[in-house]
Amino acid sequence: MVKIIAGKISDITPGKMVKVSIDGRDILVANIDGVYCAADDSCTHSGASLSEGKLENGIITCGWHAAQFDCKTGKLVKFPAKIRDLTSYKTSVESDDVFIEV
Ligand code: FES
Repeated sequence: MVKIIAGKISDITPGKMVKVSIDGRDILVANIDGVYCAADDSCTHSGASLSEGKLENGIITCGWHAAQFDCKTGKLVKFPAKIRDLTSYKTSVESDDVFIEV
C-alpha cells in the first residue's frame, strides 16, 4: 500500500467529490460531513466518471444511468442489473492534507 496525497481539506469541502489520477487510475475522493471516502471513479456499468454524478448521504449516484454506490464501502446499492462493486480505498487526514492508500 502506498499513501498518496489526494488534495487539501480546503479543496474537498463537505458534500464535494473530486477526481484524482494515480498511476493511470482515476479515483474519486468525497467528503461526507467531514469524513473522507475514496473509490474508483469509473462506474462499473459503462464507465461514467462518478465524480461528475451526485453525492447524497454517502451515496454516489452515477450521472449516466443512476447506479448508486456506497462511497465508504464501494458496494452497489441500487441498479436494475447486477454490476460490480467499486474498489474502495482507505483515507486519512494529516495536517490539512487528505491521503488515500492505493
Ligand atoms: S454508466 Fe453509470 S449507471 Fe451506466
